[in-house]
Amino acid sequence: MDAVEAVYDPFSAEFVADPYPAYAELRAAGRAHWHGPTRQWLIPHYEDVSALLRDRRLGRTYTHRFTHEEFGREAPDAAYEPFHTLNDHGLLDLEAADHSRIRRLVSKAFTPRTVENLAPTVRRLAADLVGDLVAAGGGDLQAAVAEPLPVAVIAQMLGVPEDDEERGRLRPWSAAICGMFELNPSEETARGAVEASVEFSDYLRELIARRRKSPGDDLISALIGVEELTEQEMISTCVLLLNAGHEATVNTTVNGWWTLLKNDVRPDPEKLSTAVEELLRYDTPLQMFERWVLDDIEIGGRLIPRGSEVALLFGSANRDPARFGPTADALDLTRADNPHITFGAGIHYCLGAPLARLELSSVFGELLRQAPALRLAAEPVWKPGYVIRGFEELLVEV
Ligand code: HEM
Repeated sequence: MDAVEAVYDPFSAEFVADPYPAYAELRAAGRAHWHGPTRQWLIPHYEDVSALLRDRRLGRTYTHRFTHEEFGREAPDAAYEPFHTLNDHGLLDLEAADHSRIRRLVSKAFTPRTVENLAPTVRRLAADLVGDLVAAGGGDLQAAVAEPLPVAVIAQMLGVPEDDEERGRLRPWSAAICGMFELNPSEETARGAVEASVEFSDYLRELIARRRKSPGDDLISALIGVEELTEQEMISTCVLLLNAGHEATVNTTVNGWWTLLKNDVRPDPEKLSTAVEELLRYDTPLQMFERWVLDDIEIGGRLIPRGSEVALLFGSANRDPARFGPTADALDLTRADNPHITFGAGIHYCLGAPLARLELSSVFGELLRQAPALRLAAEPVWKPGYVIRGFEELLVEV
């Protein structure tokens, strides 16, 4: 085992529980490290992660420029075709003209003003969910509050009816699909993702047909009249929105509360948004994003050739003292200068950032108000995933 493998082991439970000491070692050892087991170049520094996200010599896909053969990669396994068709036509996995076209269409629904209009609904929902948790004397913060809030909000925005039986399946479908974004997913994970992709796509196809007949005041109805969008792109983008619209928010809420409880600190309700930014930086729920190298690049004197894959270590970038100073590893809920990378950068910068911020400040605000004595009821257990990092549950008492 070489030195990098000894430090960076995203498959081990110890690493997932606390990857930050390993990140510090990687940063100290250099700017780009080859990691054999994942066949990726690890990029641990803030400046590099931030610059590469904006660099057009890299992409989330390469198929807009090269065939698999030209790029020296195998075509995806045909057995997993439903997953790939779904994933590859969504906004996040498109590049160049296709990406700008769909981003322009969808971003209208996520402007700061649209999101501000949602604020009363989101705050009411947060107040109700937290109220129920308090009335029950506590419970699983994840299942009771962190999950239902963003799922309900994004489902309502898209127009997934509350009484559709499938609404309860959004979260399991999403979890099955997101399993594919972990490193080296197993065959079982791939089969689960394929099944979820088929069912989720079928449901959306049927919902689109319903909305075509009787449009509502929702994003699916708004996109139906848009000629520039194929049905596959629409289905893929809706699935992306439904999944991206809750996964990271759930984990930010739960991981963030765990950080507060473990450190026995609470945000000043007057400075809640500053505290939420710090929790987003301190323990980002999305630890790593990948990019293909479309044209040779050089980092820290190392040539990374076309056809390579880089792993941009967001969790490490957010703790880089070169950007966040000597307190980079400390939790400072009043941190003023905080350009964290948690929502990404460049053309794929998170479309839902204003919505996520609204949801997080609503939930954190309500918990501070209604459950001032919130405490841990049991030590939580990390899920095995590294890329999308979160707990199985967070049991609390109020
Ligand atoms: C704390 C919560 C969230 C975090 C940390 C987060 C993070 C991110 C990041 C890092 C990216 C860029 C990925 C890359 O460059 O490869 C991204 C993209 C995206 N996010 Fe979020 N996100 C969050 C919540 C949301 C919400 C609530 C939505 C709601 C719709 C959303 C929708 C999207 C979409 C559609 C993209 C793709 C944008 C594009 O490719 O142009 N996200 N998110």
